[in-house]
Amino acid sequence: MILLPESSDIERTVDQPVLNVKNLHKAYHGQEVLKGVEFEIRKGQVKAVLGPSGSGKSTMLRLMALLEPADQGEILLNGNIIGTSVRNGKTSHLPERVLAKQRQDIGMVFQKFNLFPHLTACRNVMLGLTSVKGVSHTAAREHAMEMLERVGLANRADHYPSELSGGQQQRVAIARALVLNPAVMLFDEPTSALDPELVGEVLDVMEKLAAEGMTMIVVTHEVRFASRVASEVSLFDGGVIVEQSPPDDFFNRPQHERTRKFLSHVH
Ligand SMILES: Nc1ncnc2c1ncn2[C@@H]1O[C@H](COP(=O)(O)OP(=O)(O)OP(=O)(O)O)[C@@H](O)[C@H]1O
Ligand SMILES: [Mg+2]
Repeated sequence: MILLPESSDIERTVDQPVLNVKNLHKAYHGQEVLKGVEFEIRKGQVKAVLGPSGSGKSTMLRLMALLEPADQGEILLNGNIIGTSVRNGKTSHLPERVLAKQRQDIGMVFQKFNLFPHLTACRNVMLGLTSVKGVSHTAAREHAMEMLERVGLANRADHYPSELSGGQQQRVAIARALVLNPAVMLFDEPTSALDPELVGEVLDVMEKLAAEGMTMIVVTHEVRFASRVASEVSLFDGGVIVEQSPPDDFFNRPQHERTRKFLSHVH
């Protein structure tokens, strides 16, 4: 359960997980990277995921975002299996057009912003609406402007990515993900590619989203952000979630030796 301010109209208690990952496996060239990941997140929760380089954090997010198929396991969004279908006990991957539709519910923000350089900030945000959802240009522009407002960039709508700082580009990328109204937002080290002085503005936007009730999974090295904003913190290592607990427990009373060792390097 999460506690929210009295005035909030966000649901106070939450039951069914928004995203539920069961026994997720993935190997590359015979090398197993995900070894049975179990993960769930409920509405309005913010989960921070920490872990050493190469442990499989990005792979886990890419699978959750349906950008790559899992070898084994299930991903459920609001209780429904996505990415695969099961018929007569046999699991098969869904065709691309179905995946494209399911992906709209999962927003993803990458370390490198991946904006189209030939499109303005506003056009970058509009693209998902016009090309994926078939929304009219006028309505898409209006909606995109609202999202840019939300990330504090309405006054940069007509700038091209090359005319924006890294922090601003990442905020555009967040607006681009938000515009499709996803059920959950996945962030893969969203501030790692930024100059230190630009990290704060991106974290501020993410903190605001969290306060608005957005369900978020954030792979990050930003321990202060994790301890302040996350409802739960996980240590991901060796292809599995090793430990998961509220920030106070995670940072001050870690249960696993592996977590203690990891934190001793971070602090
Ligand atoms: N498409 C791919 N093909 C082959 N190997 C891959 C692929 N993607 C990831 N891997 C391998 O899987 C392992 C986990 O990679 P992943 O990027 O998920 O780790 P990570 O925890 O996100 O690391 P980092 O903190 O450095 O971002 C690595 O050994 C990586 O080389
Ligand atoms: Mg990664």
